[in-house]
Amino acid sequence: MPPDPERFVVTPYEVKGPIDYDRLREQFGTEPLTEALVARIGRLANGPVHPLIRRGIYFSHRDLGRLLDGVEKGTPFVLYSGRGPSGPLHTAHLMQFELCRWLQERFGSAMYIQITDDEKLWARGVSASETARWGVENLLDILALGFDRRTTHVFFDTRSIRALYPLAVEVAKRVNFSTVKAVFGFTPSTNVGLIFYTALQSVPCFFPSWESGTTIPCLIPCGIDQDPHFRITRDLAGPLGYPKPAILHSRMTIGLSGNQSVSTTGASTENAIFLDDAPAAVERKISHAFTGGRATVEEQRRLGAHPEVCSIWSMWRTGFAPDEAEFDAITRDCRSGALLCGECKGRLTERVTGFLADHARKREAVRPWAEELIVEEPPARPAVPGPGG
Ligand code: TRP
Repeated sequence: MPPDPERFVVTPYEVKGPIDYDRLREQFGTEPLTEALVARIGRLANGPVHPLIRRGIYFSHRDLGRLLDGVEKGTPFVLYSGRGPSGPLHTAHLMQFELCRWLQERFGSAMYIQITDDEKLWARGVSASETARWGVENLLDILALGFDRRTTHVFFDTRSIRALYPLAVEVAKRVNFSTVKAVFGFTPSTNVGLIFYTALQSVPCFFPSWESGTTIPCLIPCGIDQDPHFRITRDLAGPLGYPKPAILHSRMTIGLSGNQSVSTTGASTENAIFLDDAPAAVERKISHAFTGGRATVEEQRRLGAHPEVCSIWSMWRTGFAPDEAEFDAITRDCRSGALLCGECKGRLTERVTGFLADHARKREAVRPWAEELIVEEPPARPAVPGPGG
């Protein structure tokens, strides 16, 4: 039988097969992130658009135009993204948070980070003490990117539950099993925690509105695999009386083995560079990584290589060559055969080890105050009717 192009699966709990992103957008019913919208972001951000947007890593959205209409009229928005801790972060995990950091800086938005230590316990069977420990470690890595500590808030699910639960019950009340079953592909053996969990991932979208008794728009930068959660969230926004969150979707990052998703679940730790990798590990992983190179040096000099399928080029593209002129030169020289894979790998190794050393210092600098950002008390809310009256 010929390979079936539809044989890819993208859900929050499973990503597999060769992803056709146009088809995925159609399946999910999202909008393309057009050049006109990118230009509009640049105008409102008052400067060059972040490379992750400019280079098409973020490629899809929901309601971004409406959010920007609000910005034009002077309506501020909040940012929300999160991480389900189950182990150390790898470099691709930083992408969504790096974009948030830039948006926070450019638009002065408050940032809400959700650390879902409950989620991976239910989804992956990681122990409670492990998810809690990795939650703190991952949070340090996220904050080290340079979030503004005065306007950044952290929900650490098991520790923030007193703040989250009142809104979570209002959300859960409006979600039934047949919806989550259809959206996530749950079966009778799915853990009941996971069936409830989507309610908790919705809460931060509405929390600032609920807390203040007003309506505050929210933008969520995330991998497109997280979109199913927010489809449910968006359907509930109207009934709850809150704005639908806008969403910016990224592609999944290709792994060092050249596969379509960098997910290391059940895969080799060689597939990604972890933030706590020693320089020798970085060098080894990059030297073994899949490239778009030719079989021989002679052939590559003559024909050039294929950056599109290359895991090394993907790393330059998604974070390690933020300078556009440098990135263009790498791409051009790769295609022409002027740049050979060995040299390219050597340069990337140097760049990545430099980044990791710098990052390790920054995460130690945020450690003394990271805990202060974790919301543990329920907010004192204004005397207005709650959601649902
Ligand atoms: N479910 C996400 C994960 O598995 C974590 C998460 C929680 C999240 N809230 C989010 C991701 C909002 C993106 C946006 O890592």
